[in-house]
Amino acid sequence: MILEKTEILEITCDGKSDEDIKKLSFAADVIRRGGTVCFPTETVYGLGANALDEAAVGDIFKAKGRPQDNPLIIHLDCLENADKYCKAKENVHLDAISCFFPGPITAVLEKRENVPDVVTAKLKSVGVRVPVHPVANAFLKLCGVPVAAPSANISGKPSPTDARHVIEDLFGKVDVIISAGRSDVGLESTIVSLVTTPPTLLRPGGISYEDLCEKLGEVAVSNAVLSEMKPGDTASAPGMKYKHYAPKASVFLVHGAEDDVVSFLSHKQKNENCAIIGFSEDKDLLCKKNFFDLGSIDNPSEHAHRVFAHLRATDAIEGLEKVYVHITGDKSGINLAVFNRLLKASAYHVIDLTEEK
Ligand code: TXA
Ligand code: MG
Repeated sequence: MILEKTEILEITCDGKSDEDIKKLSFAADVIRRGGTVCFPTETVYGLGANALDEAAVGDIFKAKGRPQDNPLIIHLDCLENADKYCKAKENVHLDAISCFFPGPITAVLEKRENVPDVVTAKLKSVGVRVPVHPVANAFLKLCGVPVAAPSANISGKPSPTDARHVIEDLFGKVDVIISAGRSDVGLESTIVSLVTTPPTLLRPGGISYEDLCEKLGEVAVSNAVLSEMKPGDTASAPGMKYKHYAPKASVFLVHGAEDDVVSFLSHKQKNENCAIIGFSEDKDLLCKKNFFDLGSIDNPSEHAHRVFAHLRATDAIEGLEKVYVHITGDKSGINLAVFNRLLKASAYHVIDLTEEK
């Protein structure tokens, strides 16, 4: 840290008022001086430092307790600046998906020499993201340097979708926390590697697999998206091999016909110290105690928006042993991203009631 204590800066007008601009300029100055700043994006909050300053990037790993071999992505205010740090202009795939920038997507491209090894964990590629969130964009413009940033949570915990979560995890460990409400998407960006042929989906997110296929034609899907990495497997997205998104209690995913799922969950509520993360449709049929509502079963964007906050909230329940999450099993659109995060949060514990019949 370069400041004596963590400064929390409340942004109230999307970074547009004089007061907001003053606060964001202060935060940008902290970045240029080698400090760490947590900032909102449309996906989740990020924990940023100047990507070109090795010591500052080192402080990100320390604050999060993140393994050094898990690379960071860099954040820019516009895609036009990407070519300074990676081979962007000559990549035809990037041109094909440029319509998704700025937005909830990260492109992995061949890096240039100026990006330090500490950012990319010595990989020859770097992830580039241009957030569309107005506060992130204003902040990055003021920084004038690329900002390396992972999600602003302690490693292994659910990603932060609200400044409260960042304060919970990182107060006292970072210089500045920019507070600007809840993240819209609620899940981290889609990561697509453009250094492979065909391009490879490494992590599903707000820009769906179908969206990518429409622009790129063929897109491979990394084995890390839906399967468990075994010791010795090489993950194309290194972060996928680590324990992720997990609350303290053990998480189980439950899948089946609505009636079967409700009777299964109701039985668990009577016999176990558990919490349920389910759909609004389940709510009236179950006991309301320790029930967390993901929204209507037909509204997957809402599931994405709420799921991390719910997983995190279960940590506050005294003595909780298990969390059961109702899943649809649908893998289309943003459902794939929600399913991917829940698989990792549950360490792949799926209870399939259709199989048990
Ligand atoms: O939405 C997001 O992407 C958020 C916000 C803050 O921008 N950031 C984020 O960063 O989720 P992080 O570090 O929590 O996740 C980035 C993932 C990690 O799993 C990492 O292993 C992978 O991206 N990654 C980074 N650089 C890579 C590279 N060169 N090749 C493959 N995977 C890479
Ligand atoms: Mg993360």
